[in-house]
Amino acid sequence: MCGIIGYIGDKNPVDVLIKGLKNLEYRGYDSAGIALKNEEEIQIIKSVGKISDLEEKIKNTNIISSHMGIAHTRWATHGKPNEINAHPHKVGKITLVHNGIIENAEELKRELQEKGIVFQSDTDTEVAAALIHFYYQGNMKEAIEKASKVLKGSYALGIICDDESDTLYAIRKESPLIIGVGENEHFITSDIGAILNETKKYVLLGKDEVVVLKKDEFHVYQGENEIHREILESSASEEEISKHGYEHYMMKEMMEEPVLINQMIEKYQNHMESLPDIKKYKTIHIVGCGSAYYAGMIGKNFFEEEGIKVEVEIASEYRYRNVIYDENTLVILISQSGETADTIAAMRKANENHQDTLAIVNVESSTIARECTYQVLIEANKEIAVATTKAYLLQVFVLSLLSMRGKQDEKYLEDLHQLPQQLKVLLDKTGYYKRIADQLCNQEHVFFIGRKNDYAMSLEGSLKLKEISYIHSEAYPAGELKHGTISLIEEGTIVFAIVTDDTIQDKTISNLEEVISRGAKPIYIGCNASSYEEQFIVPKVHSRLQPILVVPALQMIAYFTAQKRGCNIDQPKNLAKSVTVE
Ligand code: AGP
Repeated sequence: MCGIIGYIGDKNPVDVLIKGLKNLEYRGYDSAGIALKNEEEIQIIKSVGKISDLEEKIKNTNIISSHMGIAHTRWATHGKPNEINAHPHKVGKITLVHNGIIENAEELKRELQEKGIVFQSDTDTEVAAALIHFYYQGNMKEAIEKASKVLKGSYALGIICDDESDTLYAIRKESPLIIGVGENEHFITSDIGAILNETKKYVLLGKDEVVVLKKDEFHVYQGENEIHREILESSASEEEISKHGYEHYMMKEMMEEPVLINQMIEKYQNHMESLPDIKKYKTIHIVGCGSAYYAGMIGKNFFEEEGIKVEVEIASEYRYRNVIYDENTLVILISQSGETADTIAAMRKANENHQDTLAIVNVESSTIARECTYQVLIEANKEIAVATTKAYLLQVFVLSLLSMRGKQDEKYLEDLHQLPQQLKVLLDKTGYYKRIADQLCNQEHVFFIGRKNDYAMSLEGSLKLKEISYIHSEAYPAGELKHGTISLIEEGTIVFAIVTDDTIQDKTISNLEEVISRGAKPIYIGCNASSYEEQFIVPKVHSRLQPILVVPALQMIAYFTAQKRGCNIDQPKNLAKSVTVE
């Protein structure tokens, strides 16, 4: 996730902005930059790499004196991580920083180029700057508003103009942005945590709100109308701070996924041999509950492709079943919390039968981590929302890495490098998820179908939807629906079809056609364009990585559906984060 910070006041903006950028480092980034403004000029300094690299450049630069500036940490999505693509971007009199994604950037870029605007970078951000520049006739608020009507996607912008050295502008579309309120100084930032060392007072911004910020006053506009926004105290709850400006922990945790996947890639891409060698076992049992079990289903397919006999079991069944162990069995326990009672019992059953056990967990000090023979930590940081998102995804990713240990697969390694950026772009497609949520929010029943790992992914998509939106949902093997459940399909029943596996794509499509002919409304999620009206195309990647670019879309759909239904997204009714009882 990119990070934005802006400052206007009497302090040295370089100190404030660099400190703020350091507080945003947790979001992951690959370049950073700063723009300073005084009466005469704007000075922009950018650097690839870490903030310390930017600081080095600043130290070796003759810095203008100023009282206003904007700064940014960039996580590359459109355009490689290099200095030209780093923010801030300047077009004409407009300099800005951006968090989010401009979905219609390519189309707008062509139109602006036809109007004679020359672009320096490959970024969607520069397109936003160019559009505001194009509309700017002396009134910044007007130019920003006009541009916001044309820019599509989820974004937040911090903006300065050559003509004004006492005013900072900002607009929040979807990506988080707040105002920091100090004594004779004001801030804008993606995350309250970036400025807590400066002020504890802040103002949350709503969608499509434009901010005009001076050192001793600020104004928030929705269209032409100025609106009042209450000044909050960040001590109101530590929770607000740790949500980093997002409305729910679940959204914050989904938006962390690209950074976490990237960290796991950096940790293992050249050290796969440090992972446990699961291929030395004749049989593998994968055991878990809920989403952990669904992650295990994906792992089963991965490991079977490596010629290993795999059983995947729900822990509450496994613990009471007469499990037959052969002399060379590995039992993998998957658990975010590492404290799920049934999974602990399953682990202890395996240990009592002298089997090797491997914990794939998020909590290093947990019971399952401590009592298993081996552990692989998913390192997802604390997951607070009851509905797991980032932890599930990292579980799947660890299973993928385990299955690839000892193999030389160029395509896998190549796709690995693009994965975090592709996941970031996928997560930012807010407009699509909201549109689907509009269609789901009044449904009584929703079905998901798929085959092989597309089925395993649909199980997780179905669980996410029902556990936070309370809409009844079922996932079915696509070939199974006609053996009974198809009788529930009525005119307008929504059926998601996950179709990413080319080897059985035609089969799933024909199952989808079966339900369409009985009135179902299809939502197609796949890698190849289809003729379906509602389709969401995900990048085609190595099959052992494909779930990483499908399930987050299902998580987002569930999130926005639950939001639309006014559900308690972080603490759904009847649910606990860790089921430590039978
Ligand atoms: C996931 O959204 C659910 N909250 C639930 O199914 C969860 O995955 C399950 O209870 C297992 O929890 P664990 O991973 O902590 O063992």
